[in-house]
Amino acid sequence: MVPGAKNSVLKLMAACLLADGTSEISNVPRIADVSIMSELLEAIGLRLESPETGVLRVTNPGDLTPVAPYELVERIRASINVLGPLLTRCGHVRLSLPGGDDFGARPIDMHIAGLEAMGAEFKVSHGYLEARADRLHGAEVVFDFPSVGATENILTAAVFADGVTRIDNAAREPEVVDLCRFLVAMGADIEGVGTATLTVRGVERGSLRPATHRTVPDRVQAATYIAAVAVAGGELEMVDAHANHMDMLLARCRDMGVDLEPFTTDGVEGLRVSCSQRLRATDVQTLPYPGIATDYKPLIITMLSVADGVAIVTENLYPGRFRYVEELIRLGADIRTDGHHAVVRGQPRLSGAPVRAHDIRAGAAMVVAGLAAEGTTTISGVRHIDRGYDDLVGRLAAVGADITRVED
Ligand code: UD1
Repeated sequence: MVPGAKNSVLKLMAACLLADGTSEISNVPRIADVSIMSELLEAIGLRLESPETGVLRVTNPGDLTPVAPYELVERIRASINVLGPLLTRCGHVRLSLPGGDDFGARPIDMHIAGLEAMGAEFKVSHGYLEARADRLHGAEVVFDFPSVGATENILTAAVFADGVTRIDNAAREPEVVDLCRFLVAMGADIEGVGTATLTVRGVERGSLRPATHRTVPDRVQAATYIAAVAVAGGELEMVDAHANHMDMLLARCRDMGVDLEPFTTDGVEGLRVSCSQRLRATDVQTLPYPGIATDYKPLIITMLSVADGVAIVTENLYPGRFRYVEELIRLGADIRTDGHHAVVRGQPRLSGAPVRAHDIRAGAAMVVAGLAAEGTTTISGVRHIDRGYDDLVGRLAAVGADITRVED
């Protein structure tokens, strides 16, 4: 069973800042980032409880302190998602500048420009971003690039703005769609969900109601299990894997020789994955959705490391996102990087060694590489994996991988 998506649930939690009362989010993954986001929202004034595994009950008592402190914000990138809801709800917000993964600068200029177009004023003081707007107004916001976080912040801010906000070149990721659906269930007026143009008609502050919502399944966790089967062989049935959220990835995996067969049982979508041959090399480039997500790339490069042939992988989102390549080379991979590109010459087999997880996705790639390597691979820095994976070790061990978690 594929758990709920980290990159959705954190935004759903932040959206609870918009409506007084108790919302309920289900299919919540057991990951460290949910705990950090919970702490951040509690510091702002929400109450969070988990009545049962996988369910979060989020109560907004209405009395909020719109300050996001450094100790929490620096730990997760998604903390920036409180900006839009707090600004539109409270009229002001103080947010420590955000942190996130260790793969280069992650600016927030598009978030700021969009909110400024809606009437917000910003200043930076003592490491905090301070935003103010007694009442936001609708605006035409055109992004140079379909940023996921900026789309989400403008969207949530626009919910209570005066008039109509149009976001052009909006991000279309399944997680953005999930947030739109939650906001609509709360009473927001959003058109164009799932398209590159989102139109939001502002409603009165205080008119949203709490809602119940099931988090969309995590396409990156699903991709991790596909990669595991691709390098280790065998077959796997994944329940709640949505093939239509991974079309381009599945096409490239099929090019590489992985068999993928979507199915539906009792109304729940799933995916059968099997691989009985050595993978074939194929070129891949990352792009905003519906293109191949940058979050899949460490997994893809790992698969290509043991494929037959040479492939070029091009990164179009985060130029610096190749740090894990040094770790794969320690395992015997033949990879050269140059700017946005990596040339991967597939080897018949990797060889186990100690390696380090530098971020969530790179950490998962090390696990997959360990499955493709002869001998034992020991991965340190697994706290990064815990940020985004719900029991990766247990799930892989349950389907036959020889993997155990050891304490340092
Ligand atoms: C989200 C995901 C992350 C994923 C990424 C791209 C979360 C918590 N994280 O990150 O896992 O890799 O989408 O799919 O959901 N940019 C700017 N200025 C801005 C905003 C973004 O230049 O104001 C640039 C970024 O530096 C990057 C690109 O736009 O090069 C994509 O960023 P964005 O889509 O905003 O990613 P995040 O929302 O940060």
